[in-house]
Amino acid sequence: MREELLAGGHINEVVRIGDTVRRPMPDRAPYVHDVLRMFAQHKWPGAPKYLGSDEQEREVLTYLEGHVAWEPAQPPDVWSEESLVRVAKLVRQFHDLTAGTRLAEDEEVVCHNDLSPKNTVYRDDGMGLRPYAFIDWDGAAPGRRLHDVAHVCWQFLDLGPRRSNPAGPARLLLLIADSYGLTTRDRKELVETILWWQDRCWRGIEAGASEGDPAMQALVDGGHVYAIHDAYAWVADHRAALEAPLV
Ligand SMILES: Nc1ncnc2c1ncn2[C@@H]1O[C@H](COP(=O)(O)OP(=O)(O)O)[C@@H](O)[C@H]1O
Ligand SMILES: [Mg+2]
Repeated sequence: MREELLAGGHINEVVRIGDTVRRPMPDRAPYVHDVLRMFAQHKWPGAPKYLGSDEQEREVLTYLEGHVAWEPAQPPDVWSEESLVRVAKLVRQFHDLTAGTRLAEDEEVVCHNDLSPKNTVYRDDGMGLRPYAFIDWDGAAPGRRLHDVAHVCWQFLDLGPRRSNPAGPARLLLLIADSYGLTTRDRKELVETILWWQDRCWRGIEAGASEGDPAMQALVDGGHVYAIHDAYAWVADHRAALEAPLV
C-alpha cells in the first residue's frame, strides 16, 4: 500500500499507510504504549490506538480522520471558546482515567506534556470544527494535572506578544480553568506554571541543539528560541492581569 508523508510534525517523520500511521519508536515506547493501551481498554476515543510495530521497527497507530491544527493560520473554530472548553474537558477525561493507576506512579495523573493545536485532531460535529483527540503521546509521563492545563493555556491561547492586551487571554484562562475544574491551589499556580513551561521549553531546545540533535537545531534556526523568549517576557509582564480572574 502507498505511503503518504504526513505534514505537521516538527520532530518525527510520520507516514500514513491506509488506516494506519507509522512513526519512529518513542524513546520510552513501553510506557507510552501502555498508556495508549489503557485508553483503548476504557474505549476512550481521544487518542490513537497502538497496533504494534512494523517490519521497519516503526510504531503502528490508528490513523485519526480529521483536521490537525498544525499550521499557524487556522479556521476560527479552532480558537473558538467552544473548542477551548472541549479541549479542557478532553484533558480532564484522560487525567481522570489515569489518576490513581500504576501508570501515574506517585504523581496525580499521566500528563501528555505537549498538548497544543498541532497535536490535536478536530472534526466537524455539525456546529463547526471541534477537538476530539490528541496525538503525539511520546512525552507522556506521570505528572501534575496543572502541568498539562498550563501547557494547554500557553499553546491554545497563543500567549505571547501576538496578543496585544491581556484582558481577552485572562478571561480565557479562567474559562479553561473552569472547564477543566482546576482546584483553587492549582489556579493560583497556573500562570507561574506557564512561565515554567516556557522557560523549560527554550532551554530544552537549546540544550538539544548544542548536543547535535538536528530537530532541535532546526527549531533554533527557525527562530523558535527567540519566539519562546518573547512569549515568556509577555506573560511575565502581564502576570498580574492574567492572574486577576483566577485568584
Ligand atoms: N494518529 C494520527 N492520526 C492522524 N494524523 C496523525 C496521527 N499521528 C500523526 N499524524 C499527523 O502527522 C503529523 C506529525 O505527527 P506527530 O505525531 O505530531 O509528530 P511529531 O512528533 O513530529 O510532532 C501530525 O501533524 C498529523 O498531521
Ligand atoms: Mg506533534
